[in-house]
Amino acid sequence: MARKLVVGNWKLNGSLAANEALLAACEALAGVDMAVCVPFPYLAQVASRLGGMALGAQTVSEFQSGAYTGEVSAEMLAEMGCRYVIVGHSERRALFGEDDATVGRKAAAALRAGLVPIVCVGESLSERDAGRVMEVIGRQLDAVRESIGAQGLSRTVIAYEPVWAIGTGRAASAEEAQAVHAAIRRQLAKYGAPAAEIRILYGGSVKTDNAQALFAMPDVDGGLIGGASLVAQDFMAVCRAAITGD
Ligand code: 13P
Repeated sequence: MARKLVVGNWKLNGSLAANEALLAACEALAGVDMAVCVPFPYLAQVASRLGGMALGAQTVSEFQSGAYTGEVSAEMLAEMGCRYVIVGHSERRALFGEDDATVGRKAAAALRAGLVPIVCVGESLSERDAGRVMEVIGRQLDAVRESIGAQGLSRTVIAYEPVWAIGTGRAASAEEAQAVHAAIRRQLAKYGAPAAEIRILYGGSVKTDNAQALFAMPDVDGGLIGGASLVAQDFMAVCRAAITGD
């Protein structure tokens, strides 16, 4: 896959003033697709200041409408201009009780509204140490496949985010990431999905100094960027590292 995708995940950060300053210093670059996934209240502000980047949210309700206080539907996100929504981020799985089946239903909700779900998968450190990386990721992917099928998977982005690499400053090495990405692609192919065309992003301590090596790997189709996406200069440098000739 030629053209890479770099997505900033702002997490629970931002203010009207801080967003304004950050966005003023960011703009879409030729040769790479860029997006920012922002907190719900800032969708409208960011939508008007995207500079050619795409907009996304960080989670979505599995429900479309009704008595679900506090929830935000995929249709609402689409109406606000979102193209992407992150589902199954490890922070949502660990802190907000989202299980594999819920993540599958959220991916389905996103597709129903025409959004591209960015489905996060990844193992914890103890799971890695126990040699269970693909067992865990396989189970996470199975649940999504069960919900949306191979056809749905063809319209998703997968993000490999090893839990031990998120916010720790300890990224997977380019070789470690490549090995897991290749295994994920094989799993997608087993489902009968067009594996070669599905973007698989790497996330977890991507910084200006390791982005180039990660993005050079054949199965790393871009990145999901946390901390570094909050500093305009760093986010732009990471995006520049993903520019391809195509
Ligand atoms: P960091 O880049 O801060 O490690 O966060 C990664 C992440 O969780 C992106 O979704």
